[in-house]
Amino acid sequence: MAHREGVFTADGYVFARHYDRKKLESRAADKFKFKPNDVVLASFPKSGTMWLIEVMKAMYNDWGLLKVDKTESPTWFEEHTLFTRYFGSICQHVVETVNVDDLPSPRLFFTHLPATIIPCHELKDKGVKLIYICRNPKDVVVSQYHFWKVFVNGACSTGNWEQTLQSFEESRLHLTPWVRHVGDWYQKGTEDNVLHVTYEEMQQDLPGVVNTKSQNEGVVSSTTVAAMRNQQFNFRFLDEEIVPKGENPFVRKGAVGDWKNHFTVAQSERFDAIIGEKVKSINRNIPYQ
Ligand code: A3P
Repeated sequence: MAHREGVFTADGYVFARHYDRKKLESRAADKFKFKPNDVVLASFPKSGTMWLIEVMKAMYNDWGLLKVDKTESPTWFEEHTLFTRYFGSICQHVVETVNVDDLPSPRLFFTHLPATIIPCHELKDKGVKLIYICRNPKDVVVSQYHFWKVFVNGACSTGNWEQTLQSFEESRLHLTPWVRHVGDWYQKGTEDNVLHVTYEEMQQDLPGVVNTKSQNEGVVSSTTVAAMRNQQFNFRFLDEEIVPKGENPFVRKGAVGDWKNHFTVAQSERFDAIIGEKVKSINRNIPYQ
């Protein structure tokens, strides 16, 4: 089936139209220069990225690495999470006003970009730390289905539930193939300074994942679903023409296993045959149910 209008493929991945095709095809990202102490969070969309960002922000504040008034966190977020100057972005107004090269260290970035596009070769030399968060793909696709519905005028709609599921299985959604996204990032091992965490282990034992015992309490309490929903920090960087004011599309249910409320038995079996089989080939501890 053909891609939706404006969607294109680069380096074997599907990109939504707000990405800059020319920059991706010319590998503009290779010009990006990491600095020592940079931290990069990478993920496939809807894997718990914003949660992990909040956790990281709470830890940074507590460590005193970065003095940020928590009420100002959106500014911090906007300024410190963008590779977009190099890749193009939905957040064009931010790209135009922030020069990421001039930001003081430590810089915290997040990206959904595939490992093959990020210039990973110099991570280790520069002491850059990279964290990749992975989530059960069945919950990812449910989360995607709900997420895109929030966008104004169905601009990014992936269709009804069955259509969304098929688009995911057939790698027609933004940044699919999911299995390749995960597999490419898992190929970057600890020797490349990459830490792999899963949404499910964060749900089960956030203090264990955070692993800074004295700071656990504050980090956990400030990053619950309720706390994050109340913050309304989501997300000034998305223009109101894209996400209506007051909508909080990044914090929905925040649960493990919501897929059971969406998949029929037949859909689950089909997904297992298409995606589950490929997950086995990655041969890593990928959350899959
Ligand atoms: P659901 O739609 O399944 O609820 P991302 O940040 O990568 O876009 O991921 C969004 C998913 O993370 C959503 O999943 C969202 O609800 C969940 N999430 C956000 N904040 C969370 C939190 N504090 N605890 C648990 N899940 C959270």
